[in-house]
Amino acid sequence: MTSALSALHARARELLDPVHYDFFAGGAGDEMALGENRGAFRRLALLPRVLRGNEPRDTAVTLLGDRAATPVIVSPTAFHRLAHPDGELATARATAAAGTILIASMASTTAVGEITAAAREIHPDAAVWFQLYLQPDHAVTTELVRRAEKAGCTALVVTVDSPVFGRRERDERNDFHDLPPGLAAENMRDLPGAPPGGTLDIAMSPALTWPDLWRLRDATALPIILKGVLHPEDARIAVAEGVDALMVSNHGGRQLDAAPATIEALPRIAEAVAGRVPVLLDGGVRRGSDAAIALALGATAVGVGRPVLWGLAADGEAGVRQVLQVLGAEFDHALALCGARRPADLTQDLVTPRGAV
Ligand code: FNR
Repeated sequence: MTSALSALHARARELLDPVHYDFFAGGAGDEMALGENRGAFRRLALLPRVLRGNEPRDTAVTLLGDRAATPVIVSPTAFHRLAHPDGELATARATAAAGTILIASMASTTAVGEITAAAREIHPDAAVWFQLYLQPDHAVTTELVRRAEKAGCTALVVTVDSPVFGRRERDERNDFHDLPPGLAAENMRDLPGAPPGGTLDIAMSPALTWPDLWRLRDATALPIILKGVLHPEDARIAVAEGVDALMVSNHGGRQLDAAPATIEALPRIAEAVAGRVPVLLDGGVRRGSDAAIALALGATAVGVGRPVLWGLAADGEAGVRQVLQVLGAEFDHALALCGARRPADLTQDLVTPRGAV
């Protein structure tokens, strides 16, 4: 069976430079976490309810004040201009057209202000969040935050699963380290410590601790979402420290290869958070029913990473629109078949391990 998304993936693979394809597709180590993100969804089933009179349906969710027409949002991924010349501008327009939230990567090949402007041209209320790696130099972090605020981003997504770079063996084999000439991580241009007119490298820092997050909180009024939380105790600490939302993520299997599938980590995180803040999830979401399973297990929304890159590489803005349209329609269809009218109707009792009924 070829889904619309796998057809776009196949097309992207044909069109992309194989080295760039591997950068997008690959994971860390043996790619166990990457494979398990999908595998774990396959091991779960939805137990539909019947005769619930579930009409009309409304798939919209509100996240930290931003409305998303469907609970499928766009996770931050680096270097969209490697996938397509229109890069992040195409992604921003397509995401705004789908009425959902774009998390713009700090490692984007377009400056965040241009990304938000492109989204707002399509829809004046388009929501763009900015993903950030806390930098060892606090002045760099605060300048990035200032740029995101100025661009009109409505939340900061702080990725905390990357104290060091993941070891992606495909990239090592391909000797892929840098963007080709003409492309750059535009958000990193002209930051404190950067060469004049040039860009600063994005640093990963194993020295970061919770107090570094407090410093960020003191530097901005934007809500903060912690991305890359897998341990329930970290979820508890984050909530106690005033974090506004959590994103259960293993970075699409690109960091710790031994990390669990995100959908398997979600229930314990949801239990620890106990509804105090929204919980998001990404990793392996490829069908609307995957989103429905994640919502039933306690997520408010899910993110997609690679599917957006495949849509972008295959057909630019139209390809990304197609990905988001298909996932949104599939999610609505899954709601209908489960006897639900809205995302909040998806409850834990609807999920069961396959083979256990
Ligand atoms: C990522 N991801 C990521 N995350 C982040 O916080 N900042 C980033 O710059 C990137 N860059 C990035 C590049 C590429 C090519 C991929 C595939 C992923 C991780 C991303 O936000 C998300 O967690 C995963 O992609 C979700 O898994 P799926 O949907 O790709 O299975």
